[in-house]
Amino acid sequence: MNILLTGGLGYIGSHLALGLLKNKKTKLTIVDDLSNAKLSTKNTIKYLSKKKFKFKKLDLKNKNKLQKLFKVGKFDLIFHLAGSKSVKESQINPKKYYENNVIGSINLLHAMIENNVKNIIFSSTATVYGLHKKNCYSENFSREPINTYGLTKKIIEDLLIDLKEKNQINTLILRYFNPAGCHISGLLGENPQGIPNNLYPYIIKIIKGEVKYLKIFGNNYKTKDGTGARDYIHIQDLVDAHLKCIKLVKKKSDIFNIGTGRPYTVLDIINSFKKYCNFKINYNFYSRREGDIDIYYNKISKAKKKLGWSAKRGLKEISQSTFNFAIKSK
Ligand SMILES: NC(=O)c1ccc[n+]([C@@H]2O[C@H](COP(=O)([O-])OP(=O)(O)OC[C@H]3O[C@@H](n4cnc5c(N)ncnc54)[C@H](O)[C@@H]3O)[C@@H](O)[C@H]2O)c1
Repeated sequence: MNILLTGGLGYIGSHLALGLLKNKKTKLTIVDDLSNAKLSTKNTIKYLSKKKFKFKKLDLKNKNKLQKLFKVGKFDLIFHLAGSKSVKESQINPKKYYENNVIGSINLLHAMIENNVKNIIFSSTATVYGLHKKNCYSENFSREPINTYGLTKKIIEDLLIDLKEKNQINTLILRYFNPAGCHISGLLGENPQGIPNNLYPYIIKIIKGEVKYLKIFGNNYKTKDGTGARDYIHIQDLVDAHLKCIKLVKKKSDIFNIGTGRPYTVLDIINSFKKYCNFKINYNFYSRREGDIDIYYNKISKAKKKLGWSAKRGLKEISQSTFNFAIKSK
């Protein structure tokens, strides 16, 4: 099978590339504009997979280059991960998110339709749901995003659903909860430049000694210890969910939440590093951030039933792989 992976040098894409390359019959092409990735990741994927694949530095906003790639590529399936993903940045610079996420995806869909490529698996996010009263989120919740990042993902979902209804494409939409953890080798993980917005990349900086303590925003949430609780899914489980999609997408278009169904608080996570890695994370409390909710997690039943997938790993594997990656990338 001839697969195109967009955003394949990023955090999730690089792990997915390794998963895809395990299949001897897969011919993989990765595109990435390196806006949030390092070229050296390409060599790490080569080193870990011991397999050949094609890489092209390409910005999805460049419609002509994308057309040329599709003309020679003859792809059977697209995994579309490329995009910008910071909620905070999307509120400050919405134009960047409309251009990069929405226009980039429109160009990709245009190239697919022009070249009769039918199948696409799209990386969406639980952020599309916005705020709901119930804590356990299922796929039929209404989508009411409260930030521009979530809105761009909702727009792309709508384009995919409309094209599917008009029989132009087959699509699976995956709404990730909170991807976390790193590759077992300790050579791949999430390591953004500057001060990260997400919890685990922040903890990586603490383990590396680049930041002294964790800022916890709020200690009066309605949870067992007052800190916010989220559904953290191990990156390897996330990859396994994608691999399950390959067969399904040709038969059926659908939408799946991808999470574990188990919420963990910020203090659970801090304690897991002490318990499993003997590493103490120092922290200070700050006031709550606007829009942050007490607790939310995935209702896992649909993916289990229809995709035949559920998460196998938990906090232990997430903390140990994160710690290993942080130490090796010091
Ligand atoms: N990591 C998360 O917490 C999370 C949660 C839900 C959904 N997602 C989605 O999953 C996808 C992958 O996320 P990630 O964590 O690996 O992010 P990432 O930033 O590590 O990877 C995205 C990759 O896409 C590339 N890219 C960005 N714009 C591009 C463009 N116009 N053309 C070509 N390449 C481009 C970047 O250089 C980067 O390598 C994203 O679409 C993101 O919105 C991520």
